[in-house]
Amino acid sequence: MTGEMPPPVPRRATATGRLPGLDEAPWDSQVNGTRVLFGEGRLEALGSLVKDLGGTRVLVVTDPGLVKAGHADRARSALRKKSLAVAVFSGVEENPTTLHVAAGVEMARREKIDFIVGLGGGSSLDCAKGINFILTNGGEMEDYRGTNRATLPMLDSVGVPSTAGTGSEAQAYALIARAADKEKMACGDDKARFRAVILDPGLLVSVPRRVAAVAGMDAVAHAVESFVSLPADDTARMFAAEAWRLLSTELAPALGESAGEAARAGMLWGAHLAGAGIDRGMLGAAHACANPLTARHGIVHGIAVSLMLPHVVRFNGEMIAAAYADLQRRAGMTAASPHELATRVEALREACHLPATLADAGVDTSSLPAMAEEAARQWTAGFNPRPVTAADLLELYRQAA
Ligand SMILES: [Fe+2]
Repeated sequence: MTGEMPPPVPRRATATGRLPGLDEAPWDSQVNGTRVLFGEGRLEALGSLVKDLGGTRVLVVTDPGLVKAGHADRARSALRKKSLAVAVFSGVEENPTTLHVAAGVEMARREKIDFIVGLGGGSSLDCAKGINFILTNGGEMEDYRGTNRATLPMLDSVGVPSTAGTGSEAQAYALIARAADKEKMACGDDKARFRAVILDPGLLVSVPRRVAAVAGMDAVAHAVESFVSLPADDTARMFAAEAWRLLSTELAPALGESAGEAARAGMLWGAHLAGAGIDRGMLGAAHACANPLTARHGIVHGIAVSLMLPHVVRFNGEMIAAAYADLQRRAGMTAASPHELATRVEALREACHLPATLADAGVDTSSLPAMAEEAARQWTAGFNPRPVTAADLLELYRQAA
């Protein structure tokens, strides 16, 4: 791809700044080097954005829910208005596997596409990145596990999240599960990043309340975990603290019957910044514990992390209480003890009407030792600020039981 990025206009906010009021939208910004178009209705700009970036034959990677909500058609018509050829792959499901990626690659090859748009929740965005890996570099997803293992150029792509959750649109990594055993593989490459992102809070209107709640708690976990993760630099902490401020303030209002535009906008921007925090930092033990819950028991990711996060905060807090107090201070809140921070996370989870214990979520205790072993092998466990062993993780599961 040879398209040149058009200059961002108007530039009214930076990632370090406050969320502009919606009356100031639309606006363009740069977060971590990715251009971000923000504002209600910005999906309409998709065609001109892709055209500016040099795309001519576009694969839109999405899921059936986005098709049903009419967003896939809106994306298609925005692209066609700019005379771009469009193929829509709507076969993405939750926790996408290597099979979903393979199906998307087959369509991409058949349609001879030269540009990818990921439209949807984290599953669609991750699948879009996964398709990009295999389409351009061949082989299997396993070949790209880790960081920067793709040797050939990849296609340019645009990410359009439809939930305020994973922040995948801000990250170089795709989480793709191996079809055989559902083990999630983190495949990252600087070339897999979306060149530009459209954050359109209007897309959140059609999201069912429970889906929004689950996604929102995932974003909360991203903010809290990335702030204290071992690799986090000060920029990562800046993103994470602003994300925590926005998400913890706006999550409950965003789920209300009469949720306003400001709450949706705050959630979408907050989830994006939390994703940027992960991109520069990492995650921790709550995510390490969550993956076996999803793989073994089918617990939705956002529920799994929200079950574990308060216990991880209390566990880490015995060693890094000052860091959690710093998170609160940077978010403009009173510096709290780790216990108070954990209690705040539990209150958010309750406001989301999500299960509070593993038992509530239907997980029996017999599998905990095996899950603890699996959790200890998760990549994210190694980034937790307090070292964790399988025995520590088993204790965390028991506390959550
Ligand atoms: Fe997550």
